[in-house]
Amino acid sequence: MNASSAREARMGQVLLDLQNLSLSFGGVKALTDISFDVREHEIRAIIGPNGAGKSSMLNVVNGVYTPQQGRIVFDGKPFARMNPRRAAEMGVARTFQNLALFKGMSVLDNIMSGRNLRMKSGLFAQALRWGPAEREETAHRAFVENIIDFLEIQAWRKVPVGRLPYGLQKRVDLGRALAMEPRLLLLDEPMAGMNMEEKQDMSRFILDVNDEFGTTIVLIEHDMGVVMDISDRVVVLDYGRKIGDGTPDEVRQNPEVIRAYLGVTAGEPVAHA
Ligand SMILES: Nc1ncnc2c1ncn2[C@@H]1O[C@H](COP(=O)(O)OP(=O)(O)OP(=O)(O)O)[C@@H](O)[C@H]1O
Ligand SMILES: [Mg+2]
Repeated sequence: MNASSAREARMGQVLLDLQNLSLSFGGVKALTDISFDVREHEIRAIIGPNGAGKSSMLNVVNGVYTPQQGRIVFDGKPFARMNPRRAAEMGVARTFQNLALFKGMSVLDNIMSGRNLRMKSGLFAQALRWGPAEREETAHRAFVENIIDFLEIQAWRKVPVGRLPYGLQKRVDLGRALAMEPRLLLLDEPMAGMNMEEKQDMSRFILDVNDEFGTTIVLIEHDMGVVMDISDRVVVLDYGRKIGDGTPDEVRQNPEVIRAYLGVTAGEPVAHA
């Protein structure tokens, strides 16, 4: 069995089914009638030119934006809209195109902040470190230390995040999302601004998360090499519309996708690479 059929065999039921979603901001149509699904254990990429609606798509899934039309079915349950709290409780975590970390806080504390939703005892008991709260805190710290080992950032665990190079900050942001133990991980351009080596490291971490924890991943990425290497299926957006959907090979050969990327107007002959 080759690598891609091995992946295909592991992919499970549909975890997230997006049906006919439309979203506009005043006159700007960010998304028009978008439908696609994400299967359990899959790495699903969303690609498209700037302003295509990729980040908006993730914001609809995690409840930050409310679509005017369509519905979201997560794990068999339909929703006309999500809200961020419910999405988090159902196991949706995300990283951000522009990092959303506490720059003055250490790596450890930033990743710990992703753990809050999982903590049962109130902040008051935690602050006083009373009995059960203290034991719970110890267990959460151990979990976070495991993430730090997994992401190979032990050497920086006490360093304020603002002092780290950008590539490492992106890794901490991934750690913060992993601390939520997500079922579905939404990654908005996790390799943006990285050099080759940092991109390779990040690709490996994403594949390892998917492999070792079975996490389903939706990934927005501009680097085509990365997308083609690590994703099972790819959705292509352009001006808020879906213009392609399929395996990396299918998408690569889709004439409409080629046109969108090469900027060739419809009707002109398209050069095939
Ligand atoms: N909060 C908002 N208010 C108004 N318009 C918005 C808002 N968020 C997104 N848009 C608009 O929706 C469209 C899609 O934006 P979006 O950020 O989803 O694109 P994108 O594909 O993520 O682009 P990029 O590759 O540049 O990150 C753009 O025209 C953008 O200006
Ligand atoms: Mg974006």
